[in-house]
Amino acid sequence: ALPAPVEALVAQMTVEEKAGQLTLMAAAWAGGAATALNPIAATASFDQQLAEVKAGRITGVFNGNGAAMARRMQTVAMREQRLKIPLLFAADIIHGFRTVFPMPLAEAGSFEPALAERTARAAAVEASAAGIDWTFAPMVDIARDQRWGRGIEGAGEDVLLGRTMADARVRGFQGRRGLAADDAVMSCAKHFAAYGAAEAGLDYNTVDVSERTLRDVYFPPFQAAFAAGSGTTMASFNELSGVPATANPWLLGQVLRDEWRFDGLVVSDYTGDLELIDHGFAADARDATRLAFMAGVDMSMQSGFYLAHLPDLVAKGEVPMARLDQAVRRVLALKVRLGLFDDPFRRIDPRREKTRVRTPAHLALAREAGRRSIVMLKNEGDLLPLPRSGKRIALIGPFAQGQQNLIGPWNVYGSDADAIDLLSGVRATVADPALVTATAGSGVEAALSGGIAAAVAAAQAADIVVLAIGESQDMSGEAQSRTEIVVPPAQMALAEAVAATGKPIVIALRNGRALALSGAVLAAPAILVTWFLGSQSGLAIADILFGAEGPSARLPVSFPHATGQEPYHYAHKNTGRPNPPGPLQPFKAHYRGTPNTAAFPFGHGLTYGRIDYAALDTGGGRLTADGVLTVTATITNRGTRRAEEVVQLYVQDVTASITRPIRELKAFRKITLAPGASTSVSFTLRRADLTFIGTDLKPTVEPGRFRLWIAPSAEAEGVAGEFTLV
Ligand code: IFM
Repeated sequence: ALPAPVEALVAQMTVEEKAGQLTLMAAAWAGGAATALNPIAATASFDQQLAEVKAGRITGVFNGNGAAMARRMQTVAMREQRLKIPLLFAADIIHGFRTVFPMPLAEAGSFEPALAERTARAAAVEASAAGIDWTFAPMVDIARDQRWGRGIEGAGEDVLLGRTMADARVRGFQGRRGLAADDAVMSCAKHFAAYGAAEAGLDYNTVDVSERTLRDVYFPPFQAAFAAGSGTTMASFNELSGVPATANPWLLGQVLRDEWRFDGLVVSDYTGDLELIDHGFAADARDATRLAFMAGVDMSMQSGFYLAHLPDLVAKGEVPMARLDQAVRRVLALKVRLGLFDDPFRRIDPRREKTRVRTPAHLALAREAGRRSIVMLKNEGDLLPLPRSGKRIALIGPFAQGQQNLIGPWNVYGSDADAIDLLSGVRATVADPALVTATAGSGVEAALSGGIAAAVAAAQAADIVVLAIGESQDMSGEAQSRTEIVVPPAQMALAEAVAATGKPIVIALRNGRALALSGAVLAAPAILVTWFLGSQSGLAIADILFGAEGPSARLPVSFPHATGQEPYHYAHKNTGRPNPPGPLQPFKAHYRGTPNTAAFPFGHGLTYGRIDYAALDTGGGRLTADGVLTVTATITNRGTRRAEEVVQLYVQDVTASITRPIRELKAFRKITLAPGASTSVSFTLRRADLTFIGTDLKPTVEPGRFRLWIAPSAEAEGVAGEFTLV
């Protein structure tokens, strides 16, 4: 229930004022330059928007440009608007504010929810000082097709990792002092639902997955986000089996409200209601408004449809007043929870806006999160870590130096200009910076005249080459699906030419998704996946290159052998004709010449140690209905350097009434091992861990045989055994 004075407002509001509370608009930036940093072009001038505020025709704005702007708008709302309802300020705080943290997919690879919680917290501390109450994050969409560009915003392909990161990020944004705290930011679990399941990885495309798969795979991260306290969700752009999510009563009503008892707010995506017309689902704007609103979208983003059409729909009895009041109460409840009725200016503080951002602590956290997100795919001959002194190092590639392609996609408030590039990071780390050179050699997608010759000369003059190649930041993110998930041909030509010099090569891959690696890149002795790491990118990479810390992240998405395998994820089904381990066999499930496995699977990542898995103990191998099974393995570091290992527990339900994946991650633990050290790692399994969505579309567990692996990746053997659920 709303506090009495707020409830009293509902009775005083006109229908138009109610529709205004349900209308969110991109901010028209105060001081002009609406599109300089903001990828969303505002449609109104700032003065026009102030007039809308005064008239009570908008509930708030998103992606504004700071505390001064927010203060001016909120002042108008509180002084000049009839009912003095505070505005709500939202923004896409996806991976940092002014301090930019690794892209969320990269950070998920740390397998450290506590780290994700800390970076989300820091982002909220910075953003809230600029007046932001609500972030459109975390993105909790499971993404199993690497052609899709928006995978960068999520936690990858796995359900358990997705749930874990969703929980951590919600807690981080919202903080532990209650949502009314001046540094708490309300989260928004998005995009509901199955946005990442777009056919062929094409952004915005049709989604047609079974209800079982929705419940088994795509829903659980949302449930985790709501359980962690996320009070809002965003309806996704896509249709679901013919009914757009934005107008889907089953999804937004039956599942979200009736089953899950979600009592928060549903916001549309940007013009999601308007897009019902192009979906071929709504005849016109009025119809789209009715369909979205009655299906359960409480707040409309950017189209203005609710403001334009709800009053008439209510007047004509096509939308009941009770539904309008329900949505309005949800918005007001959100504003109450955020403390805005007590102090509308609690997060708007131009002084804090300057002092809380890019603090030494936040920059140190960005560096820590950066290095803990780097995955080492290969390290033949222990090429890494590199010596800090005595070697001439050639950094080659379009990502070797320069203030671009550092912070990654979808960062409204961070700036590449503030970030540290690879050359600066390496020079700050080595003993003699003069021994480090940087040569582009190629553009990202186009060759550079004379580039390869210059790169070859630089390689020949060096002892070691670090080849910084991959994708630019505009090659992933929204609407940036790719048909080929490869290093662009111009850079492949560079890599082949540099490899021909015979110099030892470390690949430092910059990428927003899993890539299918080939040729000289795949053949290089050492490969680091450095993603987009944010403000401290170059320093974080140098920390790993020169061994200040060992690589400790693991792949949150499988790197396939070839693009044509997509969608690829480790937790696929066996088929009736699996190819047994070993050579490809005729009439088995594989592509011509390519196995149905990953080149580098989910969970893979090497350390500077030598990790050995042994001595599986399956705890008697019998799990009873209300019992606990403890499974244990001995993990040893036989190397000469400290190592952090992500120990992973996978299970396969061998026979079930619904076929089950060949493996599913059930638990993981990150441990540290000194050289020569050995430790036992135990996991407990309960019946509930073995649940799947059964024939009746309800969670079920079936007794029988289960295989298990405690392993360093989803496709590694590690140590394997079996148990029975009785
Ligand atoms: O939050 C985003 C969403 O993820 C994609 N469309 C635009 C929204 C607001 O910026």
